[in-house]
Amino acid sequence: MTTVSIIGNGNMGQAIGGVLADGGTSVHYVGREAGSIEGDLVVLAVPYPEVAGVIATHGAALAGKVVVDITNPLDFSTFDSLVVPADSSAAAEIAAALPDSNVLKAFNTNFAGTLAAKTVGGVPTTVLVAGDDAEAKQALAGVLEAGGLAVIDAGALSRARELESLGFLQLTLAVQERIGWTDGFAVATAA
Ligand SMILES: NC(=O)c1ccc[n+]([C@@H]2O[C@H](COP(=O)([O-])OP(=O)(O)OC[C@H]3O[C@@H](n4cnc5c(N)ncnc54)[C@H](OP(=O)(O)O)[C@@H]3O)[C@@H](O)[C@H]2O)c1
Repeated sequence: MTTVSIIGNGNMGQAIGGVLADGGTSVHYVGREAGSIEGDLVVLAVPYPEVAGVIATHGAALAGKVVVDITNPLDFSTFDSLVVPADSSAAAEIAAALPDSNVLKAFNTNFAGTLAAKTVGGVPTTVLVAGDDAEAKQALAGVLEAGGLAVIDAGALSRARELESLGFLQLTLAVQERIGWTDGFAVATAA
């Protein structure tokens, strides 16, 4: 059985863990207290400002593993910009800090409620996954599809910049109450 470690047990950690458990994946949560990283696949389900601390604590243990960045690195004081450079992304910054890990970007365009419900606006919830390693993307897609989500390979990790822009826009729409937290962007496909 595949084991996935999820660092952070909040809205997203629980929603992702629920999907994985539905698919028969063993889920192991890691909190703030020191703990081992059991999975070969590790989801960073913490706010972007916390990621540096997580890497300081667990960086060595993340070597050789697939690390999934789900963050939307917004400036939450203004809701008007990202805190990463315009020609970079949170995922690129994390990949640079974890040169021995295989970093993927995923989930940042899915609100937690749409992962838990597995549907958004009447269509299946689709997770867009960007990364440079096809095998790593396939490993994540496999456990998510087993749990009932649709998955699309969004391309190289350089696409994280576009995914983060999409996540940023979606967040501003929800904060301004133009959409709800169980709404959001969906991928409509002909069956
Ligand atoms: N919510 C969404 O719909 C959504 C959608 C897309 C992407 N995201 C992204 O997903 C990430 C998590 O968001 P969320 O909504 O799940 O936030 P959340 O509900 O606030 O949960 C964050 C969790 O991270 C834990 N945490 C913080 N620092 C930690 C550390 N150093 N080590 C271990 N655990 C730590 C928190 O623990 P404590 O309770 O101890 O603080 C909490 O359990 C964020 O980067 C966000 O941008 C969220």
